[in-house]
Amino acid sequence: MKFGVLGTGMVGRTIGTKLVSLGHEVRMGARTATNEKARDWAREHAPKATFGSFGDAAAFGETIFNCTNGANSIEALRSAGDRLANKIVIDVANPLDFSKGMPPTLTIVNDDSLGERIQKTFPRAKVVKALNTINCAVMVDPQKVAGGEHDVFVAGNDGAAKEQVTELLRTFGWKNVVDAGDIGASRGLEAYLLLWVRLMGALKTPSFNVHVVR
Ligand SMILES: NC(=O)c1ccc[n+]([C@@H]2O[C@H](COP(=O)([O-])OP(=O)(O)OC[C@H]3O[C@@H](n4cnc5c(N)ncnc54)[C@H](OP(=O)(O)O)[C@@H]3O)[C@@H](O)[C@H]2O)c1
Repeated sequence: MKFGVLGTGMVGRTIGTKLVSLGHEVRMGARTATNEKARDWAREHAPKATFGSFGDAAAFGETIFNCTNGANSIEALRSAGDRLANKIVIDVANPLDFSKGMPPTLTIVNDDSLGERIQKTFPRAKVVKALNTINCAVMVDPQKVAGGEHDVFVAGNDGAAKEQVTELLRTFGWKNVVDAGDIGASRGLEAYLLLWVRLMGALKTPSFNVHVVR
């Protein structure tokens, strides 16, 4: 399958590398079509990996990953514009604000979320919030923690899109994919980061996750 990965940070490169290792074709996007991180990553993973602008990556992908800085994701996705229409947009971003130091706060919170803002701004995209509650190394290798006996959440308004994302996550190694409901569930999934950063400090590792027990 063809994926557009928007974002050249640790998350975009980790997810892009996983997708290529699974045999997919991936175009990584950045603000400029000449981004050095994207170029180096694409060289390392050629021929299945290529790079370009956010718009190029969105046009290339049948499914899109939003791995951009959460405080700037709407702006980043705007440059992809219409190319998101009718596509699944897997939103991994968290709207974290580090401007006042640690711990971060959220730029969107309580009665709104980044996932919802993206869905409202791009109504023809099928936005699925997923993977934002885990460190990127665990996102693509859940067995790293407790043999994979922990949970990843999906949230979105389109049931078929959530099923497709669930299937993709299973190929990443996820055994437990919990459907948290419509895109409004992004409020809780993003606010969980306030706890996540505290747990990372207390546990002194980013390699942990939660498991919902019924
Ligand atoms: N680190 C983790 O393990 C982890 C876990 C869960 C969720 N997340 C979330 O995943 C996302 C990516 O995290 P990251 O650490 O890999 O990268 P990041 O540094 O948060 O974001 C990098 C990307 O954001 C773009 N960007 C930055 N400012 C921008 C602006 N003003 N306008 C448009 N685009 C802008 C950059 O564009 P250029 O390429 O052009 O520079 C780059 O592609 C974040 O939302 C983060 O909260 C991270």
